[in-house]
Amino acid sequence: MAFTEEYLQIRKYTEKICEPLQTEDYVVQPVADVSPPKWHLGHTTWFFETFILMPFSLNYQVYNTEYNYVFNSYYETVGNRVIRTDRGNLSRPGVHDIYQYRAYVDEAMVKLLAAPLNSVLEELLRLGFNHEQQHQELLLTDIKYILGNNPLFPVYADKTEVLNEALPQADFISIAAGIYEVGYTGDSFCFDNELSRHQVYLQPFEICSQLVSNGGFMEFIEAGGYSNFNYWHAEGWDWVKNNHITSPMYWHRIEGKWFNYTLKGLQPVNVDDPVSHISYYEAYAFASWKGMRLPTEFEWEIAAKSFNWGERWEWTESAYLPYPGFSKAPGAIGEYNGKFMVNQKVLRGASIATPPNHSRITYRNFFHPHLRWQYTGIRLVK
Ligand code: AVJ
Ligand code: FE
Repeated sequence: MAFTEEYLQIRKYTEKICEPLQTEDYVVQPVADVSPPKWHLGHTTWFFETFILMPFSLNYQVYNTEYNYVFNSYYETVGNRVIRTDRGNLSRPGVHDIYQYRAYVDEAMVKLLAAPLNSVLEELLRLGFNHEQQHQELLLTDIKYILGNNPLFPVYADKTEVLNEALPQADFISIAAGIYEVGYTGDSFCFDNELSRHQVYLQPFEICSQLVSNGGFMEFIEAGGYSNFNYWHAEGWDWVKNNHITSPMYWHRIEGKWFNYTLKGLQPVNVDDPVSHISYYEAYAFASWKGMRLPTEFEWEIAAKSFNWGERWEWTESAYLPYPGFSKAPGAIGEYNGKFMVNQKVLRGASIATPPNHSRITYRNFFHPHLRWQYTGIRLVK
């Protein structure tokens, strides 16, 4: 696909995600991790403006020089910014202004993309595309959080949160011991954290062909999983107690039955769907209650050729660390992934919120272990 076409398609998809919103939904930040939808719309635009138009488009006029402070997420190289927890306090720029900002940048981008591109620009463009796609997933999960924590439980859209009506029979797949290659290989885009490709040694293991279901997770709840410290890390146990956690995020007990907030509104929990909105702590506790464990990210990468994935982000047992030979790009782009390689866990797979053409077997997602507003799930290993 030509760059212009791909650019416009990705930009349009972000706006499509926002179509069901009312103006007020765009503005709020109910918790620090959830950004206001309008902030995502502005930040992804700022990314193209700052890293592509400013350096590569001759005579480009910045839309509004004050937007750098508002829409810079975390790039120290690019200057000061509004603190993350204050994103929801910004009534300005308004939603309408931000859509105008998008249109202004899109026009300049289309003009730039009409001319021949050098390889440096091409590479940044691909990063810009993939960056906006990452925000498409965050945008949808942030919208779910905003609506799902509203006492009216508004419906987002008639959008399913599962790929299949019911999970087929679960089997355990045996993987032999040996030296395997992991990390990205190919000529398409990958993030810097997927490199370099390298060898790992794996002990033999067996991995489940299916994700853990809601029904399976209910058994953990009924067996007192949330009230038995034996299954939990010390940190996880503190998290359970301090936050009074008794079920996955979005679950509600109503007249003796489990309901969960979904994009279609509050619904009875479907026991056959894969469990979602689980922290790493809960994934670990569930596995230890089963007498099993989570896969490492390398076990997952090798085994994933033998099962279907892409419905839930799957917590792994691996810390988010640089691969051998990892190197950061110079300047602001080097801040993209590398500086977050501390105290986070790797998730593998993708989810129903991941946009089309934004998943691959070497993709490394990462979050702190207590977070669960993404579509996270569990796959067991023994
Ligand atoms: C890979 C999803 C953890 O949320 O900060 C967005 C994605 N990186 N903008 C994040 C990202 C830069 C990143 N995660
Ligand atoms: Fe970003």
